[in-house]
Amino acid sequence: MWLPRDVPDGVLTGMSISVIGYGNQGRAQALNLRDRGLPVQVGNIDDEYAASARADGFRVLRIPEAVEAADIVVVLIPDEVQPHVFRSSISNALRPGQVVSFASGYNVTYGRVPIREDVDVILVAPRMIGRGVRELFLSNRGFPMLVGVEQDASGEARARAVSLAGVVGADREGGCVLESSFKEETLLDLFSEHAGLIQLLKTSCEVLIEAGCSPEAAILETYGSGELGEIAHAIADLGLVNQLRLHSTTSQFGQLVWGRRWIATETRDLMRRAVASIQDGTFARAWHAEEQAGLVQLHAAWRQQEMAPLFLAEARLYEALGRGGE
Ligand code: NAI
Repeated sequence: MWLPRDVPDGVLTGMSISVIGYGNQGRAQALNLRDRGLPVQVGNIDDEYAASARADGFRVLRIPEAVEAADIVVVLIPDEVQPHVFRSSISNALRPGQVVSFASGYNVTYGRVPIREDVDVILVAPRMIGRGVRELFLSNRGFPMLVGVEQDASGEARARAVSLAGVVGADREGGCVLESSFKEETLLDLFSEHAGLIQLLKTSCEVLIEAGCSPEAAILETYGSGELGEIAHAIADLGLVNQLRLHSTTSQFGQLVWGRRWIATETRDLMRRAVASIQDGTFARAWHAEEQAGLVQLHAAWRQQEMAPLFLAEARLYEALGRGGE
């Protein structure tokens, strides 16, 4: 792991960067890189994101031209469009010696993007949403970045990945660069989506309602009050267990002694199966089949959730509290 003071300086001097995509990550990273003095241009299709990049003062090129024009190509378009955009606009425009950087491991892990063998292929993945990437940078604070190397054509790929992560914002107080890989980042990312908090919160709420609690009380207690956000901050600042010192002694006994029994062997085994379904490609195959079929299951799941008693109660509660929207 590299802390801010260890991130090598100057590795990218003289290299020009094309940021492909100007959305959540693209805008934040392009602005941060430019503020660090690097020559940055944007590659984008002709849409409102391109207009936003122009309004921010960037030179905006068509994607193939932006790829040709740069030493480092930072790919920041959605994962689901990358295979098509690589085939149509990126793969053929690449030349030997370039660096292709991804913010997500998914498409490289599952072999979905064709890339020639004489370029560096690196992972520079912020553990931060785009808005945070920019806002933290502006307030001179850092955030964690995972880096990895899939192809090291230059012999410099690792140093370049670490440096790029640094200049995007990891080399400031509070940041760090952690060595990872495309496969590991894919597993971390997907697993936290499959076996993560949303399912647990939903199930917890449903069980409390079954036990006779009102939906409003269950929702506020479980996630709606905002306390969960406070606890998440305390976990990041103090540690997962150490922050329990901020809770009552009854809560500490419940969480450290009594509650352990409810994460049973079966839960752990199911989590291991979730890991296996990512590592052996079962999830990726199911997701690609779903994309080919026009997202039928996903749309049905949205309809089902929108009609579920828990979320109808949530909508009423949030409306009464003046919340909601996006
Ligand atoms: P986004 O959805 O904000 O991307 C929008 C950009 O993609 C726009 O510039 C748009 O013109 C371009 N685009 C959309 N469809 C296109 C198409 N068919 N052809 C060409 N360009 C197209 O993407 P976001 O969320 O910034 O994600 C970019 C990458 O960063 C992904 O690999 C994602 O996994 C990764 N990432 C995203 C995070 C986030 O904060 N959203 C956090 C960490 C990683």
